[in-house]
Amino acid sequence: MFKLIPNFSLRHNNSFGLDVCASYWLSMDRQEDWFDAMAKYPHLLEEKKLIVGGGTNLLFLSDFDGLVLSPDFSGIEVTYQDDEMVELTVGAGIDFDELVAHCVSMEWYGIENLSLIPGKVGAVPVQNIGAYGVEVADVIVRVNGIHLESFQFASYEQNQCHFSYRSSLFKEKFLNEFLVTSVVFRLQKVGTVVTGYGDLNQILQELGAPSLANLRRAVIQIRQSKLPDPAVLGNAGSFFKNPVVPEEVATALEEFLPGLPVYQLSEGFVKVGAGFLIDNAGWKGFQMGCAAVHEKQALVIVNKGGATGKEILDLAEAIQKDVLAKYGVLLEREVQIVP
Ligand code: EPU
Repeated sequence: MFKLIPNFSLRHNNSFGLDVCASYWLSMDRQEDWFDAMAKYPHLLEEKKLIVGGGTNLLFLSDFDGLVLSPDFSGIEVTYQDDEMVELTVGAGIDFDELVAHCVSMEWYGIENLSLIPGKVGAVPVQNIGAYGVEVADVIVRVNGIHLESFQFASYEQNQCHFSYRSSLFKEKFLNEFLVTSVVFRLQKVGTVVTGYGDLNQILQELGAPSLANLRRAVIQIRQSKLPDPAVLGNAGSFFKNPVVPEEVATALEEFLPGLPVYQLSEGFVKVGAGFLIDNAGWKGFQMGCAAVHEKQALVIVNKGGATGKEILDLAEAIQKDVLAKYGVLLEREVQIVP
């Protein structure tokens, strides 16, 4: 069944906790709902569209004059398995961390490093979420959905999804045009945990055996020590991406910024730590209006209470300008602005 609500408050549907409204909110829990809703309310096809899957990566600058789509498709179904692996088809409306918890409890390897990332399954491939050495693209087999304008069902195999660092075909080409209905994940029944990132291995050892459950505990422990809980302090995780620069630029930066985190990519390019640059430029804890740079992770901007989207964006732009002036590096936003 679909549900259409006019003048809908989005306050609880954006993790910055901004007090904004949408002209229309359409929630759907069956694939046919998009067809049924548009047959009943064809004028809504003309509206600007925004797909919201948890609202954990969105920054609203004002009320949204258009139609917000909320995919609530449920289900975690084993659609194939053998001795070594299992394929799961998961509805776009499932809370991603609920899926991670389920897979860890079943002893299926692959997404445990992505523990405690807020948001719904449908948003996961769009953004190609990643953390602690794992990207979700590594375990996605296929993404199923509907092209909203043409009403065509489509499935994209992993190699057609154009996955890259925090991006995909669904973000580059089909943003707010392709409604993800379900995602097929392939997880391993036999495996080892990935512990190469930062102090993950050390924390895991402190917890005991390198089991899936302990790996999940270790990731949760690290995240909770650095990242603010959006239910308590509005935020959207990393506000910026870690910038990709030529190797020689990173080498030059490292000379006057010892300790700069540098992650090797291919073809002479590296990713450098944006949090480190912002931190070293002196922004950690800095407050401007009701927006502030998180005290424990400089890559995160928080709503101290009552902030507007504009205040948050102003702070982000001040940081971008300063980091560019000090280090010659342009920080690209990870958060999606909704004008
Ligand atoms: N650092 C600082 N100061 C800071 C923040 C970071 O010096 O204020 C330095 C430290 O040396 C730290 C290193 O940067 O050891 C890396 O920090 P962290 O492990 O927190 O990772 P990140 O590069 O800042 C990225 C992702 C996070 C993800 C973590 C862990 C991006 C944009 N962010 O952050 O993802 O959880 O790695 O894998 O790639 C998100 O996308 O919303 C997100 C939280």
